[in-house]
Amino acid sequence: MKKFIIFLLIVLAGIQFIPVERSNPPIKQEMPMPNNLKEVLVRACYDCHSNSTEWKWYSKVAPVSFLISYDVKEGREHLNFTEWDYHSMKEDKIKEEIWEEVLKERMPPWSYRIFNPKGKLSDEDKRIIREWSLSR
Ligand code: HEC
Repeated sequence: MKKFIIFLLIVLAGIQFIPVERSNPPIKQEMPMPNNLKEVLVRACYDCHSNSTEWKWYSKVAPVSFLISYDVKEGREHLNFTEWDYHSMKEDKIKEEIWEEVLKERMPPWSYRIFNPKGKLSDEDKRIIREWSLSR
């Protein structure tokens, strides 16, 4: 048992040296949106869906860092509010998609909500997203 713990500690120390991508590229074009919506999205979505991720201290500790870095990479690839290709994106469709993820409580992911209370959407937050998703 003791040997195993020592082995584990060595592995944990070792993986700290594996490089992790943790950058915030420059903001290109932000999605046009009303201020009240922006407040909600910045708080609950921007850590994964923008180029202004707030990298917390635990995002620097492996193996948690691997998971967070992966989430941010995936999140940005799917939807990036700060690299908004307004013309090529079907705006109505993306609005619907966002509302659906929020309604079904798939976004923000539960794993994020546990560590980030700010990611928990209130009824008022949801109402703001819903209202915007219906606006044309
Ligand atoms: C912890 C990181 C994280 C947070 C915070 C987060 N997302 Fe995501 N989101 C992801 C990842 C990763 C994906 C892609 C994989 C998936 O669909 O699960 C994704 C996918 C999506 C998609 C689907 C896009 C597509 O092309 O399929 C939508 C819409 C979305 N997120 C909206 C939101 C909204 C709105 C919020 C805030 C209320 C939010 N997300 C918060 C990580 C996150």
